[in-house]
Amino acid sequence: MNNPKHFFLTGAFWVIAVTGSAGAMAAPALVKEKQCDTCHRFASGPAEKEQYGPDLFFAGDKFQEKWLENFLQHPEAIRPAGHTRDPGFLKGQRRTEPHPVLNSQEARQMTDYLMSLKTLKESPPLNLPALSKGARVRVKILFERDYSCIACHQSYNLAGLPRGGVSGPSLLDAGNRLRPEWVYQWLKNPKAFATQGRMPLYRFDEETLKQLTQYIMSHTKDDPGQ
Ligand code: HEC
Ligand code: HEC
Repeated sequence: MNNPKHFFLTGAFWVIAVTGSAGAMAAPALVKEKQCDTCHRFASGPAEKEQYGPDLFFAGDKFQEKWLENFLQHPEAIRPAGHTRDPGFLKGQRRTEPHPVLNSQEARQMTDYLMSLKTLKESPPLNLPALSKGARVRVKILFERDYSCIACHQSYNLAGLPRGGVSGPSLLDAGNRLRPEWVYQWLKNPKAFATQGRMPLYRFDEETLKQLTQYIMSHTKDDPGQ
């Protein structure tokens, strides 16, 4: 350390390395301007007392980019009965104002930011094999009867029509909206994402986990008859 030049260079390198390893890019001014952070959390930590919208600090793990960019310009209801974390949810006094809408340029910038927010250390691509007809029937029975997922989630019946409960997020467009890697992790350990989640905890074996993930990912609005 008796060489001041050496000290300076080491210091500069350290600063760059730390900035680089911070991962997510800085929140765009747009988050503050549109007050997204009054309803959503963009970083993990203790849950706020009042939180009207779903957590977004793992948006990059959870969403498909194309869906996200489109949603920010054309928001649609995913939880038709409201978000369970809204303090007014159980009292029937939830906030019902329309979701903010971004223009295409803002949506592009916000999508880049949201896709940079990740909590999964690794998320290698899950190469799920297509479900055979027999496996599909078995998983549908699990989803509807054995585990009653359908009591809380919208899904499709055999005629391709929506059916199911609304206390959980709709899965009608899950195949366009969610990343299979995230769905798999969510089903394995929802506590990794939601500390106060309202979904029951299940213990699936590896094959069932993969088949349920594949089943959920086969739900899309473009092909409801699946
Ligand atoms: C007044 C509160 C409020 C504000 C402000 C708000 N949101 Fe939301 N947001 C919500 C609620 C509630 C939902 C859930 C809607 C649903 O599921 O039907 C939601 C859903 C979302 C979703 C989908 C999340 C998921 O898990 O399905 C994204 C992405 C999102 N908002 C981004 C944003 C961004 C970006 C901003 C700022 C431009 C913003 N929101 C501002 C309340 C808000
Ligand atoms: C008692 C109601 C209930 C049951 C039963 C239930 N869920 Fe959920 N589920 C929820 C709620 C509520 C959430 C939202 C999580 C949160 O924010 O706490 C959720 C979230 C999810 C998500 C993430 C969706 C998103 O957009 O965030 C998936 C996928 C899912 N559930 C699949 C399943 C499957 C598969 C089953 C059956 C094995 C199941 N759920 C059973 C209530 C339920």
